[in-house]
Amino acid sequence: MILVLDFGSQYTQLIARRIREANVYCEIHPFSIGLEKIAALNPKGIILSGGPASVYHENAPKVKHETFQIQVPFLGICYGMGMINLAAGGEVARADNREYGAADLIVDSDADLFYGFAKTEPVRVWMSHGDKMTAMPTGWNSLAHSGNSPIAAFADPTRRFFGVQFHPEVVHTPRGKEILDNFVFRICGCKPDWTMAHFIETSVQKIREQVGDGRVLCALSGGVDSSVAATLVRRAIKDRLVCVFVNNGLLRQGEAERVCQLFAERFGGSFRYVDASEVFLSELSGVEDPEIKRKRIGYKFIEVFEQEAQKLGEINFLAQGTLYPDVIESVSFVGPSVTIKSHHNVGGLPTQMKFKLIEPLRELFKDEVRLLGQQLELPSEMVQRQPFPGPGLAIRVLGPVTEDRLKILRAADSIVLHEMRAAGLYEKVWQSFAVLLPIKTVGVMGDERSYENVIALRVVDSLDGMTANWVPLPADLLARVSNRIINEVRGVNRVVYDISSKPPATIEWE
Ligand code: XMP
Repeated sequence: MILVLDFGSQYTQLIARRIREANVYCEIHPFSIGLEKIAALNPKGIILSGGPASVYHENAPKVKHETFQIQVPFLGICYGMGMINLAAGGEVARADNREYGAADLIVDSDADLFYGFAKTEPVRVWMSHGDKMTAMPTGWNSLAHSGNSPIAAFADPTRRFFGVQFHPEVVHTPRGKEILDNFVFRICGCKPDWTMAHFIETSVQKIREQVGDGRVLCALSGGVDSSVAATLVRRAIKDRLVCVFVNNGLLRQGEAERVCQLFAERFGGSFRYVDASEVFLSELSGVEDPEIKRKRIGYKFIEVFEQEAQKLGEINFLAQGTLYPDVIESVSFVGPSVTIKSHHNVGGLPTQMKFKLIEPLRELFKDEVRLLGQQLELPSEMVQRQPFPGPGLAIRVLGPVTEDRLKILRAADSIVLHEMRAAGLYEKVWQSFAVLLPIKTVGVMGDERSYENVIALRVVDSLDGMTANWVPLPADLLARVSNRIINEVRGVNRVVYDISSKPPATIEWE
């Protein structure tokens, strides 16, 4: 495996993804983990990520000197390069001008890191740095330069330390993947044997060992993560897995029926459907505050789930679809993270219910889970499903949640989804949905004045939901969605398009 030590760059996760795309296993850990932990991970190479603008920043994270005792190749990226340079006795200074954006790199060396690159052709790379390498440690070689960076890449050939000033992990460095591959294969000697087929084999084995002859419960949401997790567990222990799908009355149009049909087919007798919609809706009656909505739904879910679990006899394990981005302890420079929204998932269950946890997807990114789902032959409808929040439509009906308002939102949302699919865009974006606003506006329908609800469309692109960009949908698609909603959904006379990115907005409105 390759170990990435995180210094807080927004691109750290991308490094791991690029390496995994080359079928080499890669994990991200905070820069501060000690020698013992690193040795236990037994990496074949270590990458130091980018980080805050300057190694001279007041709170700049410093690599532990002892880290370099590990006898494997190192690659420092941007800030990580500065760390390596300083640690080995070189000099780093603040650049007069922060270099941000595309730059042309000239490769000056035949070093393995640039294997396959011609020395004559400039290579497009992405720079984002405020520091500059002014002197290298003695005996080191400069491998490449750019207009602004006389030392844009360097190496200690004996110790096999490398550094690049640019970011090979981002798409704006088109040949960056080749550079990372060179590091991983030519320099670290890794083999490309981390495949999904291999992953299935080892995790099925692990689940069998962990569960022994026990039984496992899995809360299905209908989403891709829990479906894939359940399928893996089922492959390992067959009918000793029980799946429970709770309808909280906050699902989209036709969703409960569709999910039941798909799961009943796949899981047969071990699938249980619980219709708790009335209990959830009465719990939400009169509630407008988004946090109270989220909390009440979370608690209710635990209660309903607990009641079901009790009916099922002795069950020792709970399977969850926790993903890698949820477990990475990333380094943050904005202070301790504040609660922006209480994300309700099944995370509250285990301590309450004393289950042991099974989390077969803890090492995977979302797109890898989708690949895994394909390998496990799950229907593409399940695998390509966009994320849907645990509290469901309750946080998309802004203000009070009533059956009438849910009905309006369901109808509008189903038009959005239908049109996104028809335009071939449903699977290309992270999420696309409708939100019912808590205001009414004046309109004119026929010759009559109307005073009706507003629907907002939200369509975003994202890698992991942590940041997101609004998608500039084609105008004709927007027009079609708007026309259809206003004409077909009784109670709506206006549609608006949300053009806010995250941050500073969030994806969901509540
Ligand atoms: P926000 O609104 O925080 O959403 O930008 C980020 C991503 O998380 C999803 N989301 C949730 N998922 N339980 C979930 O399982 C929740 O309570 C929840 N709230 C938001 C949201 O749909 C988006 O993909």
